Amino acid sequence: MKAIEIRNKYLNFFKNHGHKVIKSASLIPENDPSVLFTTAGMHPLVPYLLGEKHPEGTRLTDYQKCLRTVDIDEVGDNRHLTYFEMLGNWSLGDYFKEESIQMSFDFLTKELNIPVSKLSVTCFGGDNDAPRDEISANCWKKAGIPEDRIYFFGKDDNWWIAGEEGPCGPDTEIFYDTGKEKCSENCNPSCDCGKYVEIWNNVFMEYFKNSDGTYSKLKQKNVDTGLGLERMAMLLQGKETPFDIELFKPVMDELKEKSKIDDINSRRIVAEHLRASIMVVNDGGRPSNVDRGYILRRLIRRMTRHLTKLGIELEYLESLIEISIDSLKEMYPELLENKEIIKNVIVEEKNKFVKTLKNGEREFEKALNNIKSKGENKIGAEVVFNLYETYGFPPEMTVELAKENNVEVNLEDFDKMFKEHQEKSRMGNDKKFKGGLAEQNEMTIKYHTATHLLHKALQIVLGEHAVQKGSNITSERLRFDFANPQKVTKEQLEQVEKIVNEQIQRKLDVVCEEMSLEEAKKSGAMGLFESKYGEKVKVYTIGDFSKEICGGPHVKNTSELGT
Ligand code: SER
Repeated sequence: MKAIEIRNKYLNFFKNHGHKVIKSASLIPENDPSVLFTTAGMHPLVPYLLGEKHPEGTRLTDYQKCLRTVDIDEVGDNRHLTYFEMLGNWSLGDYFKEESIQMSFDFLTKELNIPVSKLSVTCFGGDNDAPRDEISANCWKKAGIPEDRIYFFGKDDNWWIAGEEGPCGPDTEIFYDTGKEKCSENCNPSCDCGKYVEIWNNVFMEYFKNSDGTYSKLKQKNVDTGLGLERMAMLLQGKETPFDIELFKPVMDELKEKSKIDDINSRRIVAEHLRASIMVVNDGGRPSNVDRGYILRRLIRRMTRHLTKLGIELEYLESLIEISIDSLKEMYPELLENKEIIKNVIVEEKNKFVKTLKNGEREFEKALNNIKSKGENKIGAEVVFNLYETYGFPPEMTVELAKENNVEVNLEDFDKMFKEHQEKSRMGNDKKFKGGLAEQNEMTIKYHTATHLLHKALQIVLGEHAVQKGSNITSERLRFDFANPQKVTKEQLEQVEKIVNEQIQRKLDVVCEEMSLEEAKKSGAMGLFESKYGEKVKVYTIGDFSKEICGGPHVKNTSELGT
């Protein structure tokens, strides 16, 4: 079964079970520069999991474009992907464990025709924070999974949370038995040997993890499930790796044909990073030196480097983009519209990298002369690191050049420095994820309403071009990015401030209405008109001052904001 067929079956199945099909959110979270990329289907739904009313109801389903960058350096093996598609279904305070488990079981065994004998499941084993999940285990038994294939594990395996803080809960994971031999007597679904492959994760989100590490109960009991599409396609097609399915196969074959050396890892890296870059650029991402732009840059650079390693002319990149888009267009028809932009952005970044490599080589020469003049014959770790960090020059290229020049490289210390660096950026990313996603409290809700006032005030003072480009709210402050060709003057800022404070003092009611996107446009609401035609949206009106499409939540009256 092709990936697109699995996706269609999934959405139809849940539609027939009362779910509304919602649109995949952008890979680049809307209005949220604090988060790098959308990493799970639940990500855009956080406010609704916390109790906000979703305009489409309490049962939702979608396919979500996701990008996870923690494993970027693992790509090249037989399973890791950065970009993937997650199929998901949600209950926002609607059904819970029993119905969710029965639906998952029916979908797998009746729609995808997976034999029950191939399935094992794991449930949460219980601890001081939450009880052992006997309910889920019993639901699985009732559905038809024999008891000896129902396992219990602790938080490490069977508890799901995005980041450190936020909505979370015990999960039950469904595993597919590939039929490989058990790696040991104790081999079970928590084992990494490859016998069991996780295919679906049903999270029973009824808790909120607070910043102090304690857990509270959410207002409602939610279900959040996620099924990795590429992996499912791989299993149903009897393939060994996701690179063998139709979304990758044509590029992989082409790479093999054009390569001068046989290196499957490099071929996978090129195919994977190419697809991820295409999807990020398609959603508006552009290479840069910070945050998500830097991830895109890394993806394109790593891909370029491995193309070179394979001995493929870099001019050939454009055709590879064409081939990749061709395999993806059925799943993402919008790629055809954006094809030229995608090609331009990726090829231009590749060209920049080629220059970078030249600069790096020059810097290497300098470092080499420097040590030689001192009579040494070892390149220090800080040189390798600096070349990597400042010039984007890959350490393995430094090693290669060093070899050619008969000098050694202090790689051990470089590895240490590199690990520290990675750890730091990972910590940074986790914090970001937390900031954008989970922090929702009285203060951030106030700031959110203030954002609407600010947006309108900026348009009054600067002009209608001053539209929102992003916003980031924490309990301490709000940040607002907007379009304006010039620097805002002090006088203009004072005017903006005055207008916002006036509206606060006018004690305006904040009213939420649900309507179709068309109605929202007609009513003059500001906002990103990204949703599909006919989809319902929420419009927040603040007195006679502002009207904006927004998911919420907001305060009830501007007087709550202070000044
Ligand atoms: N949020 C869960 C996951 O990412 C289930 O969708 O696995």
